[in-house]
Amino acid sequence: MDIKTLLSSVETELQKQIGRLDQPRTKPFYEMLTYHMGWTGEGAGPEATGKRVRPLLVLLCASACGADWQTALPAAAAVELVHNFSLVHDDIQDHSPKRRGRDTAWVKWGAPMAINIGDALFVLSNQAMMDLKGKYPAETVLKAAEILHQTCLDLTRGQFLDMSYEQRKDLNVEDYWPMIAGKTASLLSACCHIGALLGGADDALQEVYRSYGHYLGLAFQVQDDILGIWGDEVVTGKSAASDLVEGKNSLPVLIGLGKKGKFAQRWAQGPIEPEEVEEMARLLAGEGGYGEAKEASIQMTDLAINSLREADPHGEAGEALFELTNRLLNRDQ
Ligand code: IPE
Ligand code: IPE
Ligand code: MG
Ligand code: MG
Repeated sequence: MDIKTLLSSVETELQKQIGRLDQPRTKPFYEMLTYHMGWTGEGAGPEATGKRVRPLLVLLCASACGADWQTALPAAAAVELVHNFSLVHDDIQDHSPKRRGRDTAWVKWGAPMAINIGDALFVLSNQAMMDLKGKYPAETVLKAAEILHQTCLDLTRGQFLDMSYEQRKDLNVEDYWPMIAGKTASLLSACCHIGALLGGADDALQEVYRSYGHYLGLAFQVQDDILGIWGDEVVTGKSAASDLVEGKNSLPVLIGLGKKGKFAQRWAQGPIEPEEVEEMARLLAGEGGYGEAKEASIQMTDLAINSLREADPHGEAGEALFELTNRLLNRDQ
């Protein structure tokens, strides 16, 4: 079990799936897709592809249930395509200029084109999932597709909450968890669920893997929020200032607002200017925003590890899942 082999097989499968749009007359459109995936254009390369955590989870969970990971590759590509569709649209929704260290699709080609790129990635994800047919019983393929579709609905609900929170002044930490359960944890839990399904696990074991992915997803988004304020933008590939400037109700911010201290006072007065970001980040850390968010991410990781222990994953893939879980908690990108 070599992670590098898994990752390069994922890349080949993604190229095959996106190759459906390598058609005459619309070459520039195909190039927009390959740019976003990190394969072509300025800055292309391993840094520009992202971490590919979701397909890895599908393959490792399938393998940890005792099955061959190679037959699950179309599903691994499907979840990464859903993720990328959501990123292209999310960057429009969040006005984010940078993703994986490069200009976002909407900055390069405008929002209308970027919407179309996201739409294509979304449909390609469904096509990819259909490629499981012939390798698994029809019932299994249908169930995998059903899980993915439900996830996409949960994702849009999470994005709705995230965007609707921008106008709200009365939010607290309890409002945070359902929002990130939708926008982030639903897809990570689907990856683990689908992996276990394709690995031949029974319903009860699939449920344990699903729950592992859910807590991993919650921990993952909390860490993303921490990096969104205190991360190094050279490493994350996203602008560290933008979460405070955009007024994003991330976990550290909601914790800070609950303290009703200097941070909350300034936040209530209106948008944060870029030149204030450093001072606001310092204030927020001083009032517990950093430490308590870190504590929450450790708690969620512990819950993920408990579920993973209960799943009792086999062999090298099992070890890799434990390793990946701890690495994501301590990640800096
Ligand atoms: C970013 O996800 C969006 C979140 C759900 C936090 P990743 O951190 O997995 O992004 P890439 O794919 O590695 O760029
Ligand atoms: C992450 O949203 C979830 C989705 C993209 C659906 P965020 O807006 O919090 O993530 P980043 O910081 O842009 O990656
Ligand atoms: Mg965003
Ligand atoms: Mg967003």
